[in-house]
Amino acid sequence: MAVLPVRCVPDPVLRRRAKRVTSLDGSVQKLIDDMLETMPAVSGVGLAAPQVGVSLRIVVIGLPDEEPVVMVNPEMVKRSGERTVLEGCLSVPGYQGEITRSVAVTVKARDRRGKEFRVKGTELLAQALEHELDHLNGVLYLDHLESPDKLHGIEAEEEQGL
Ligand code: CO
Repeated sequence: MAVLPVRCVPDPVLRRRAKRVTSLDGSVQKLIDDMLETMPAVSGVGLAAPQVGVSLRIVVIGLPDEEPVVMVNPEMVKRSGERTVLEGCLSVPGYQGEITRSVAVTVKARDRRGKEFRVKGTELLAQALEHELDHLNGVLYLDHLESPDKLHGIEAEEEQGL
């Protein structure tokens, strides 16, 4: 396992639509292990493969005090409600922006062995799921800003790792 460097804007890998995973082979298992090691090392609560330079549809989510969840080829099934959140991104250091996210989402995905499962999330989990699935489509939270004045510079200790 290894802690991988996190790619930051304007790295083009962050803007690419990531490819579906077609084989859960050794290289994919190693990538998942490395993402699981990298996420806490950068104080992340979520990490998408493009953020470590790999354009594949893999996401890991690690909320505080919870077992990390590995999602291969995740798909949004349902979203409901709207709320305003202050959001940051490990790939956009030094900034936070005010955007609208869903209150609740349901995502289906495969685990690292290929078994299908669903996650229903509200609040921070819903926000993390939407944020990381956006990464797989080359979308950053910056794209959801209503206007440039909704973006603020922040100190490093206020960083929120998504
Ligand atoms: Co992010």
